[in-house]
Amino acid sequence: MRFLITAGPTREPIDPVRYLSNRSSGKMGYAIAEAAIEAGNEVVLISGPVDVDRPRAAAVIPVSTSDQMFDAVMQQTRNCDILVMCAAVADYKPVAVFTKKIKKRDAKLSLELIPTRDILASLPKNRNYMVVGFAAETENVEANAQKKLLKKNCDVVVANDVSRPDSGMESDENEVEIFFRDAGNKKISRASKKIVASELVKIFEKYFEKRLTKKMQ
Ligand code: PMT
Repeated sequence: MRFLITAGPTREPIDPVRYLSNRSSGKMGYAIAEAAIEAGNEVVLISGPVDVDRPRAAAVIPVSTSDQMFDAVMQQTRNCDILVMCAAVADYKPVAVFTKKIKKRDAKLSLELIPTRDILASLPKNRNYMVVGFAAETENVEANAQKKLLKKNCDVVVANDVSRPDSGMESDENEVEIFFRDAGNKKISRASKKIVASELVKIFEKYFEKRLTKKMQ
């Protein structure tokens, strides 16, 4: 199978030296890429700026902004079976980017932000690849993940609680709950991201095959 995986944060420039971003380390997405390769799949990894060793057998496409990630995903989904959107794409970006460094002054400074384009929600409704979204939540994890599953038209959503210091963002461990569009859910208890990733890849492959068999009937 051909996996297309996104990982890491995006950076939304404010001026030539500053940007808006988030704490995503890329560890979860890279672990999924490694696990998919280990299971014998082809992997294309679209990565925001991270400090993680690149999986040797993956084709890595480096991006920085949400717009670059948007374009790379739209291009690469032409040739994939399973898209896994693990990247923490910024939800907002500055309305305008200052061309010169903003000077420090003794006054308040406001930045006007606009929503970025939502990559998942922009994918075609009729498609021949499976779409896995992630939900990074700090409250009402289950309800919010279920909402994202429908609103972003995903086949599967992997929810994680990012308010905890011992799992989720930046941590080497994670605990996730997986929600399927055709009903049902599954939990993976807290474990290293390597173990969680290997379980996730098995679940995605099984779901993909089930979907394919259903289509052929
Ligand atoms: O990188 P690590 O430190 O290992 O941490 C892993 C992680 C916590 C970042 C990862 O497990 C995770 O939860 N990734 C999704 C982060 C996120 O942006 O979640 P969200 O709930 O804000 O977004 C929901 C989904 O929409 C995500 O699949 C996201 O990629 C996608 N999205 C978001 C914004 C946008 N403009 N376009 C999108 O497609």
